[in-house]
Amino acid sequence: MTAVYPGSFDPLTNGHLDIITRASKIADKLIVAVLNNSSKTPAMFSVDDRLAILEETCGHIKNIEFAAFSGLLVDFAAAAGANAVIRGLRAVTDFEYEFQMAQTNRSLNDSIETLFISTSPQYSYLSSSIVKEVAILGGNVDYMVPAAVRVRLMKKIVGASCAGPVI
Ligand code: PNS
Repeated sequence: MTAVYPGSFDPLTNGHLDIITRASKIADKLIVAVLNNSSKTPAMFSVDDRLAILEETCGHIKNIEFAAFSGLLVDFAAAAGANAVIRGLRAVTDFEYEFQMAQTNRSLNDSIETLFISTSPQYSYLSSSIVKEVAILGGNVDYMVPAAVRVRLMKKIVGASCAGPVI
């Protein structure tokens, strides 16, 4: 099975990392696909930074690839030869949006299945938005993100305290 794990990853969290690690064990090939969508709320990290963070954090996993995509996820997945999309489910609050997305994707291309992996409980509260908010407000996010994110967040926040807002 070739699977795509799509997301904004702005930034990558330990929750994402948990899903990536577990998905890489069930897929023959896992493509982690970063949404390149400038119209979505302004990103903290550029797509290049997000890909570099993924490479530094998960580049050692043998069956993994990283890519940026824009447009429809199912079109990217089909062009990449994938037959599955992986999504993490943290809590029941994720379900409605995820179910709608899975149904939409299936209506667009029924040869690509969406598979859900339930997030490990210790990451069930984590999201990229929470990480950004806590970091911007000066809280400790060290245990929420991998080292590659920690370093970059620190630079942004120290830089911003001299030069203006972070985002
Ligand atoms: O983890 P995120 O940031 O919520 O990821 C959302 C993502 C990238 C999976 C979703 O926005 C997406 O698939 N965007 C591509 C556009 C698309 O295919 N839309 C139709 C399905 S709703």
